[in-house]
Amino acid sequence: MGAYRDESIRKIRDQVGTGKVICGLSGGVDSAVAAVLIHEAIGEQLTCVFVDHGLLRQGEAEEVVRLFRDHYNIPLVHVEAQDLFLGALEGVSDPEAKRKTIGRLFIDVFEAESKKIGGAAFLAQGTLYPDVIESVSFTGGPSVTIKSHHNVGGLPERMNMQLVEPLRELFKDEVRVLGRELGLPEAFVGRHPFPGPGLAIRCPGTITVEKLDALRKADAIYLEEIRHAGLYDTIWQAFAVILPVKTVGVMGDGRTYDHVCALRAVTSVDGMTADFYPFDMTFLGRVATRIINEVKGINRVTYDITSKPPGTIEWE
Ligand code: XMP
Repeated sequence: MGAYRDESIRKIRDQVGTGKVICGLSGGVDSAVAAVLIHEAIGEQLTCVFVDHGLLRQGEAEEVVRLFRDHYNIPLVHVEAQDLFLGALEGVSDPEAKRKTIGRLFIDVFEAESKKIGGAAFLAQGTLYPDVIESVSFTGGPSVTIKSHHNVGGLPERMNMQLVEPLRELFKDEVRVLGRELGLPEAFVGRHPFPGPGLAIRCPGTITVEKLDALRKADAIYLEEIRHAGLYDTIWQAFAVILPVKTVGVMGDGRTYDHVCALRAVTSVDGMTADFYPFDMTFLGRVATRIINEVKGINRVTYDITSKPPGTIEWE
């Protein structure tokens, strides 16, 4: 990865010349590694843009801002676009429609930010090799789109911007090694992957602020318990999903009628195939009790035991 880093820096400089680059940060490892690598290559020519689309996990925006502004001193524009994204997603329930809406708005925001800095000729993204493969076809099967990851498939022609994607040939484990090589803090490098469309695809059906709030809280409890049990690094990805199904429950003397929360945890090497994580029942029971007691709007918890294939990691 030391050699890859030097080679990438050379390639980025060749591609970009003296042009300005905007890099979209998602809160995940990939875009952070891409940004730090590009910053090493071209310094002040890079502006990072972190879009808060209202679909982030608890505390995520603060963590990203702290890492870039304080740790790296890399200029970062923090765009508060919750109303824009949640407004456009109102009533949208189809998973691909959600991805397309979010992808289009990301482009609009990047375009607006580019104008503010006098026009960027390049847009940088942390696209990985599996993103490219999974957007095009499914290994071994016919050429059908499983999920169109929002950051794959080029830019609209009117944008007049070129893509810079220095991680396009890498798998996640390699990106983590590169991140360490670039001095990213271990806690950030080891973070579970987080999809660009964020919590939108962990909220099957229509998205509401109430559902997102409940989902964020449930997810934070689940991850806190996983960390506490020392399991975070063994698991590839763990998260909560809020289902568009309400069920009847009883709490104290009263009837409840609230949403179901599904918990997902998988082990994987590259995200292309995955196995569900075999938690012990005591652990799952503890998490379920905490979520139901502490999160308003959820009264039932289930655990997803589907591997990939035939499931996918995310529910949408
Ligand atoms: P699936 O659900 O396809 O997920 O098994 C494989 C990996 O990709 C992530 N993922 C996404 N990442 N945009 C992204 O940036 C997307 O639309 C998207 N969909 C899935 C998922 O979190 C997992 O790590």
